[in-house]
Amino acid sequence: MITIIGSGKVGGDAALFSALKKLDEQILLLDVAEGLPQGEAMDINHMLSEQGIDVEVRGSNNFADMKGSDIVVVVAGSGRKPGMTRMDLLKINATIVKSVVENIKKYAADSLIVPVTNPLDPMAYITYKVSGFDKSRVFGMGGMLDLSRFRQFIHEATGHSRDSIRALVIGEHGENMLPLPRFSSVSGIPLTSLLSQDKLDELVNNTKQVAAKVIELKGATVHAPGNAISAIIESVVRDRKQVIPVATYLDGEYGYSDVTVGVPAIIGKNGVEKIIELELNEQEKKVFDSAVQSVKTAISGIEI
Ligand code: LAC
Repeated sequence: MITIIGSGKVGGDAALFSALKKLDEQILLLDVAEGLPQGEAMDINHMLSEQGIDVEVRGSNNFADMKGSDIVVVVAGSGRKPGMTRMDLLKINATIVKSVVENIKKYAADSLIVPVTNPLDPMAYITYKVSGFDKSRVFGMGGMLDLSRFRQFIHEATGHSRDSIRALVIGEHGENMLPLPRFSSVSGIPLTSLLSQDKLDELVNNTKQVAAKVIELKGATVHAPGNAISAIIESVVRDRKQVIPVATYLDGEYGYSDVTVGVPAIIGKNGVEKIIELELNEQEKKVFDSAVQSVKTAISGIEI
């Protein structure tokens, strides 16, 4: 069973995409708001009925209902308002995530946890520490969403099919995000041989800024995060062993320890099967280091 804790727009969309992809027979939406998960589940089930898809989506306010979950997605918490950074949500969401993870520990002790709540990287660290789960079982969704935006900008800049574009974004799901043109391509052709440095810099900057722009225009980002969550779940439930940038605990990788930040990892049925260490150049290392420092500073201020 897939459980999604937080039944707002992103949680609801994650359930919808997961159901349409038939990632499990049972999807549970949990929330503290009375009626919200139940209403969301009903609405999705009505859609599934027309599609003839026999995935059962349930809504509940009772954390005990997550018992037996294989995967638990944590979207619970406040979203940022126009003009806010993700890090602005640190204090308020740390309290919420700690409480949620205590419940996961109690009712879904064998699950894999996918944190999504912002600021993602510190929240993934809290989830890892509070859950006490093996580090392979906690992997936050951030880079997968960032790379979907980077791919869109590459698509717009080159005119090539989205399907032929591969992109990678690591580091912090935030101000110190690291889109990697050197590790991105169009049908295997390195992006760095297709676009000028100025254009690449523009795409990198756009990737960093675009979420705030969407929030300014429509109030929240919904479909891209919802889909990215379902894509990570798919790699787990189908044991696809995709290389996906996830916020996971480093224990010496990239020269860092006791921090959670976006790194490429092989994602399969057991969660993080292996972290892939890229050969970063000096400039890339500088940004990655800023990301690690930003997350370390954030977690140093949280009582776990
Ligand atoms: C975004 C939020 C999920 O990037 O951080 O849309």
